[in-house]
Amino acid sequence: MKKGSIVIRNASEVVTCSGFKGKAGAQMQDLEVLKNASVIVEDGIITKITTDPIDLDYYQEKDFTVINAEGKCVLPGFVDSHTHFIFGGYREEEYNWRLNGVSYMDIMSRGGGIINSVKGTQMTSKEDLIQVGIKRLNSMTRFGVTTVEGKSGYGLDLETEIKQLEVMKELNKLHSLDIVTTFLGPHARPAAYKQDPDAFIDFMIEEVLPVVDQRGLAEFADIFCEENVFSIEQSRKFLNAAKKRGFNIKIHADEIFQLGGAELAAELGAISADHLLQASDRGIEAMKQAGVVATLLPCTAFSLKEHYARARYMIDQGLVVALATDFNPGSCFTESIALLIALATNQMGMTIEETITALTINGAAALDRADQIGSIDIGKKADLVIHEFPSYRFLPYHIGVSTVEKVIKNGVLILDNENNEPY
Ligand code: NIG
Ligand code: FE
Repeated sequence: MKKGSIVIRNASEVVTCSGFKGKAGAQMQDLEVLKNASVIVEDGIITKITTDPIDLDYYQEKDFTVINAEGKCVLPGFVDSHTHFIFGGYREEEYNWRLNGVSYMDIMSRGGGIINSVKGTQMTSKEDLIQVGIKRLNSMTRFGVTTVEGKSGYGLDLETEIKQLEVMKELNKLHSLDIVTTFLGPHARPAAYKQDPDAFIDFMIEEVLPVVDQRGLAEFADIFCEENVFSIEQSRKFLNAAKKRGFNIKIHADEIFQLGGAELAAELGAISADHLLQASDRGIEAMKQAGVVATLLPCTAFSLKEHYARARYMIDQGLVVALATDFNPGSCFTESIALLIALATNQMGMTIEETITALTINGAAALDRADQIGSIDIGKKADLVIHEFPSYRFLPYHIGVSTVEKVIKNGVLILDNENNEPY
């Protein structure tokens, strides 16, 4: 068998999401669906997409793997462009407090929240983080994810920030999924800097960022820009320092309070601004002008019992909107793309076409990779998912259940649920 060479034949639908950059506004509706189509992959790269009959003998002679996709739909692998999936310990108690009415910010001001996961992550060995990381990546794969972004930020000190990033680099080698790493050093104010967050920002800029840079441990830099966490000025300072070193920029913006994070993302030319529950009309307009991707995280709003970001308004204004899970131990302990699809379509007023665009080509744009992944186009990486139903319209309809049957990464079948019955 020729590794990375595969024929997926006669799918009911091939949903290409065709494009090489993020799709804005009304373009998000456009999925490009081919009926009764086949996809050919050679050496991990998509080389042909066709509705013509396939000469199977030709490909079988050349040792291609052949998958019959009759009655199924094929989509690009999902790109989960915002997660914090490497952490030690859990915060199930906090979630149950929240169910009883205590707010996320109240828990933080009582000394809980992110700081709890920082302790847990500091105490967990690299090897244990790798083991649990593999389990989490396996679970994401079952939801059809083929590329995932992961952030540091549960260290807040040099050693642990580096440990988290190294774990993700290692996992990128060990696991089939592609992992894009983000340095989120300024994620919370550690106790030692409670009264002097400016000094913590300086520590991150002077002591940690240079090491992350020199060792090539992250592609993006990010900050939690939020009331009582890091201000607009502190965020601007940190992100500018990161930009100067050549990092791409992301920002946790306007999640709980309207601080002007969306405007700052536009000013700095960030690749994405994320959360945006409270983003102002002006901020949204500025993001559109600057071409910043709006990454919305509905599972977090659900978990925090907050209202959802204004997806409909943002799309109608012409933004490039991406969707991601925000998988983390605090505000959103779920990697479920199935839940995300349910919330986006049923609660946020997004169509399934817009939702799929937001999880594929626009997720890729949020990672600055829309030229390589996020669609079924000739020349792109063969990251493909076969779903068990004949149409993509089943994805929101099978509420909260993964429809993923087979996952193909770089042209190699890495997950097959078809004959995976319980005994
Ligand atoms: O994106 N908002 C800040 N950071 C994470 C939450 C992390 C945590 O609670 O552990 C988020 O929601
Ligand atoms: Fe986050």
